[in-house]
Amino acid sequence: MSKESMEKIIEEVRNIPPLPAVVVKVIALTRDSNTSANDLNRVISLDPALTANLLKLCNSAYYGLPRVVSSITQAVMYLGFHTVRNLVLTSTMSDFLARDVSGYGYAKGGLWQHSVAVAVGAEQLCKRLRPGLQDVAFTAGLIHDIGKVVLSRFVADAWDDIRGYMEKNNVPFMEAERQILGFDHALLGAKIADTWNFPQELVNSIGYHHKPEDAKGRPLLSVIVHLADVAALQMGYGLGYDGLMYPLSEYAVRTANMSQKDMEELYATLEESMKNATSFLEISAN
Ligand SMILES: [Fe+2]
Ligand SMILES: [Fe+2]
Repeated sequence: MSKESMEKIIEEVRNIPPLPAVVVKVIALTRDSNTSANDLNRVISLDPALTANLLKLCNSAYYGLPRVVSSITQAVMYLGFHTVRNLVLTSTMSDFLARDVSGYGYAKGGLWQHSVAVAVGAEQLCKRLRPGLQDVAFTAGLIHDIGKVVLSRFVADAWDDIRGYMEKNNVPFMEAERQILGFDHALLGAKIADTWNFPQELVNSIGYHHKPEDAKGRPLLSVIVHLADVAALQMGYGLGYDGLMYPLSEYAVRTANMSQKDMEELYATLEESMKNATSFLEISAN
């Protein structure tokens, strides 16, 4: 890839729009222990489309609440601050992740479906492995492939070279992506998450989701995202080109202590959870 194209890619990351102000406010509020449900309500209700999406997600079968939630205050009461924050992010991210990413071999909405599946899979896996990480794991899963939104058209332009490199060297897609473009979508996604001031742990989990053994610091989050990614691909949720020859990290399997039976249970849990998560897929069409 020419130097000119690499500079164009960097320029695109620089031009990525900031997180909407309402999301930044919601993140700040949920970090503050003095925040009340009413405070969140006041900020979120200023955005009617966001509020509508949020209530739709709260009332989805995924959460299985015993009654219909009709206000943000109630949503906080039933699901907690962190889940409501995750749903605000989900609603916002659906705008990005439902864009055209056909360069990666996705049909319309394919990357959004994949992202939701990895978020749900990561959250479910955490229930068993590390319940404290559940909230951040959902977010990490949701945005793990966000680099694809920027790289898609560059991949499309260089597709013959990428495929040629894969075939000649018998390497996974991402290796060829890095060699031909000078970047891979994981590294680029981490840069985007960094631009949005997400915590370092989350940034790393995106950067290393294909190879968690290379993650610095606490790699457990990368391990979780990786396993959820594998599970989503295995179950056919958003199989793009990077699913080609996607190697399962032995390190991740060992770190999470996953037997073959545990992996199969993860696949089954994911399939069951996705049946209840149709509302998540629907909001991107709004
Ligand atoms: Fe990926
Ligand atoms: Fe993925």
